[in-house]
Formats: sequence, structure tokens, C-alpha cells
Amino acid sequence: MEDIPKALRQKYQPQKSPFISPLVLVGGAFVVTLGVISLSLDFWLRPQVQSSDVTQDQPTPEETTVTATTTITPAPPDNLLGHLSYEEAPTEDLMAITPDQKIKLRSAAAEKFLQMQADAQAQGIILFPISAFRSTSDQENIFFNVKEERAEVTTQRAEVSAPPGYSEHHTGYALDIGDGSVPATHLQLSFADTPAFRWLQANAARYSFEISFAENNSQGISYEPWHWRYVGNSDSLETFYRARNLIE
Ligand code: DAL
Ligand code: ZN
Repeated sequence: MEDIPKALRQKYQPQKSPFISPLVLVGGAFVVTLGVISLSLDFWLRPQVQSSDVTQDQPTPEETTVTATTTITPAPPDNLLGHLSYEEAPTEDLMAITPDQKIKLRSAAAEKFLQMQADAQAQGIILFPISAFRSTSDQENIFFNVKEERAEVTTQRAEVSAPPGYSEHHTGYALDIGDGSVPATHLQLSFADTPAFRWLQANAARYSFEISFAENNSQGISYEPWHWRYVGNSDSLETFYRARNLIE
């Protein structure tokens, strides 16, 4: 074509077709068809999951945290020979319940006792306070000295007397009550046959007093019909029942 003039050369130059060759079209269609088949197979062969099977935020088995369950065994109660340990009442809250000022209770218990005593007296009953608040050193004399005087073995002594640090008398909420008209029954089982005891059985709960060592009590302490305790406020209630729950 070199020898053909330029103007003519352009005229005889083979023209590029504006259309895509049929071969390219067939090839393209083949690739698209393969893609569609592949996607379809992937969809139908995958394990089918229903939307209702999936709960949002539900952990997969691998994600589930296993919580260990442990059994908590309560600590054994702080008891000695069946008696529970008690703190001494704060001195500043102690209030005398006898004219000689020697026998004292915590103020809340003292006020209720005096009210109970006055109401009993109005009915001809003499509630005679024998012993109320006792320090641990007071209890030391009562437990060890009397034990030696009576030649009691420890377990015998503990049936009727608490070791120091383990007496309800330390709390200032407990007292021994006698019948003023029958002193011979003081601190004796025969107190249970007195008018004062019968009056207490019928009325003491009105003043939030209750017997501490009933017959066959769970602590294994001898029956003490004369020993009563005040449970008329949160402090006294917690003092006695928290300790008691532990041993039952
Ligand atoms: N008699 C009672 C148990 C005491 O000593 O506290
Ligand atoms: Zn007592």
C-alpha cells in the first residue's frame, strides 16, 4: 500500500467494526452462566437455618460461660459448752433497776422491766430482780469459783452457768427474776410454781421479755424458769437470734 497515495490509502484501509464480535459475546455469556450456577449450588448445598432458630444475643455453645456452683457451709457458731459468745454491754447505756443501783440493764430493757414490775405489783405480784448485767470478770467468779465450791466437773457446771464471755447477762438484756413473796424459790426450779412465774408466763411478752432456757432447749442448757431476756428492739433481737440461728 506504500505506493498508493495517502488520500486513497485511507479509503482502502480496513474499517474496525463498531459491533462486539459474536465470539466475545458467546464467551461472556458462558462465564456469566458458570457464575450463576456456582452461586445457586452454594445456596442449595449450605445447611438451611430458619430465622426462628436464631435468637439474637444468644451465645453459641462456645461462647457460653460455665458458672461454677459452690456450696457455702456456714461457719460453726462460736459456742463453748453450748453457750454462745456475747459482747459486754456499753457501760454508758446501763441503767439501774434497783434502789441501791447495784442491778443494771441496758436502758431499753430497764425501762420495760420497771414498767412490767409496776404493772405486776398492781396485781399483787412481786417481780424481784436477782441479777442482771454481769461483766466477764463477774462471770469468771460465778463459773469457776462456784464450780470449785460445789466440786462440779466442767460439763456439769456449764449446764447451769455460762463460761465467762458466753453469758446472756453480758448483753445487759437478760436478768434473773425471783418471786419477792417466796425468796426460798430464788434461782430454784420451784420458782416455776410461784405466782410471779405464772404472771410472767401470761404477761411478759407484752413487755418483750421471753424465757431464754426453756425445758429441753436446743442449747442443752438446764431449764431456768427465772432467766428472762428482753427482745424488744433490733439490737437485742439481733443479739440473741443471730447467735441462735447458727446452732439450729
Ligand atoms: N445461767 C445462765 C446460763 C448464765 O450463766 O448465763
Ligand atoms: Zn441468768
